[in-house]
Amino acid sequence: MRESISAATFAFVAVAFTALCGCQIQPADRAIHGPAAQYTTAAIATDHPLASEAGAAMLARGGNAVDAAVAASFTLSVVRPYSCGIGGGGFMVIHLPPDEPERDSRQIVINYRETAPAAVNGDYYVELDDPEASRFGVHAVGVPGTVAGLLHALEHHGTLDRATVLAPAIRAARNGYRADAHHIWAMNHLRDLLDERSERGEHFTPLWHQLFAAGNLEEGDLVRNGPKAAALQLIAHHGAEAFYEGPIADAIGGVIRANGGAISADDLRSYEPEVIEPLRGRFGEYELISMPPPSSGGVALQQIFGIIERHLDTTTFADPDDPAYIHLAAEAMKHAFADRAEWLADVNFVDVPIDRLTSSEYLDELAARFDPEAVLDDLYAYGSVTPANAQNAAGGGTSHLSVIDADGMAVACTETINLICGSLVSVPGFGFALNNEMDDFTTIPGEPNAFGLRQSDRNLPEPGKRPLSSMSPTIVLRDDRAVLVAGASGGPRIITGTAQAILNVLHFGNSAEDAVLRPRFHHQWMPNELMLEPDWDAPELIRALEARGHAFGEIHEVGVVQLIHRRPDGTLEAVSDPRKGGRPSGVGAVTADQ
Ligand code: GLY
Repeated sequence: MRESISAATFAFVAVAFTALCGCQIQPADRAIHGPAAQYTTAAIATDHPLASEAGAAMLARGGNAVDAAVAASFTLSVVRPYSCGIGGGGFMVIHLPPDEPERDSRQIVINYRETAPAAVNGDYYVELDDPEASRFGVHAVGVPGTVAGLLHALEHHGTLDRATVLAPAIRAARNGYRADAHHIWAMNHLRDLLDERSERGEHFTPLWHQLFAAGNLEEGDLVRNGPKAAALQLIAHHGAEAFYEGPIADAIGGVIRANGGAISADDLRSYEPEVIEPLRGRFGEYELISMPPPSSGGVALQQIFGIIERHLDTTTFADPDDPAYIHLAAEAMKHAFADRAEWLADVNFVDVPIDRLTSSEYLDELAARFDPEAVLDDLYAYGSVTPANAQNAAGGGTSHLSVIDADGMAVACTETINLICGSLVSVPGFGFALNNEMDDFTTIPGEPNAFGLRQSDRNLPEPGKRPLSSMSPTIVLRDDRAVLVAGASGGPRIITGTAQAILNVLHFGNSAEDAVLRPRFHHQWMPNELMLEPDWDAPELIRALEARGHAFGEIHEVGVVQLIHRRPDGTLEAVSDPRKGGRPSGVGAVTADQ
């Protein structure tokens, strides 16, 4: 567990930490980078300018939100290759336009999370006897879902053809793109990792050279990825088959099986995305459309929002920096993460009491436990965890994009390869990294995963099961119209970052830009620390929270949020979080003098 810090030492730690983290961008820089823009017609926010432009190009030629999301996602797989891509998986929440052929509901979720190979069961990692087998190397890889998921979305809900939506990504891979500050930050992170554990880089050399010039890349240098262009070209021509049965499948199978990994040709051939109902909740006049399991995101957001909402009648908070609000929100987060640890997993394999965990009665009960003056003495008083299951005690590799199009169709899409460059296994000849999503399972019972998350036996690996996620793509409706689309990258901080950005708009009335840029906090129950970003004007705040019993940890960012808000005048304010250097794009840009 990290050492707690006091008010006296926080300022020093915050300054030192800021200096250490090359990716931390101070408010002055944020303004310069222009992370927010307004559009009259359609907008997209991603964490890389080229991906937003790829999506906007589809919108400008008459494509819909799904066309834009798919084009942006394939482009992200090139320009943020360490965060997401065709070697990983994701979730897409779609709000369909009113004229979509009759359906039971206008909101759907495409679940294209990676699956456990048929040969992997609950004992797999215990028997391997390597505590890092689920993080690095061929055993860490889940069967990738991104290509199947994106092409399913395009075929069923898009309007443009594969070649058109893949063209910007192929161009970026072939012609190259400039390495930005975040790309260099990822390279430095990987260099430190490889210095520490050179044996873990065994299958990473081709990508280390291709994407990072073997550690010698500088900001502004051109990064080309011809092998990745070849993979995307095959997908454009032959569809998902190229990936799951054709030459790309052979290359994946080659590196996995030659090194004793579990993914078989059959695992790849049989991969299917799943279309499911979203989780629906309310916050005042708004309807929240969010991710059900295998993500914990939707249940956690509903619990956090529900607990906070129950105290808004009696308490008013000046703004999101009010220590009384931070205390309430942190306590709500602790309940949500306690229940995440105990209950959540893939509902196709285990019972998850979603209705109970999100019911009014249960949220009333959790809200009633809140003490405005103090944290609860007992960590097992959060959520409904059983101390007997004490094993449950306790961003870099993910990317989110948000889109709203001219017809009001909206997409919230979060994709991941888990950690930076995933398993560090390159697919020979095709220029991409395979995920290490298997680490999101409970791989060694009682041990936390790479994000420090404790998880129960419900989340043990089983053949075909999807590991528990924190990804929280969310669409907010008012009167059946999408008024806000949000989500984030950042492991468990996805949930807390997304929740704060949404509440900053819906409850505190912040502009989308202020809502995303202001500093954030995070609590995940265990470790029992309230983590603050370095931007806080901290000493007074720390004192007020310390008096309520909080211990503190430091964190360089609480999620990287991409948010679009439909303002009362109908314009779309789109924000790409400067924590990662993205920029939004769209159709009908509103200039300053309009
Ligand atoms: N791999 C991060 C998540 O899905 O939560």
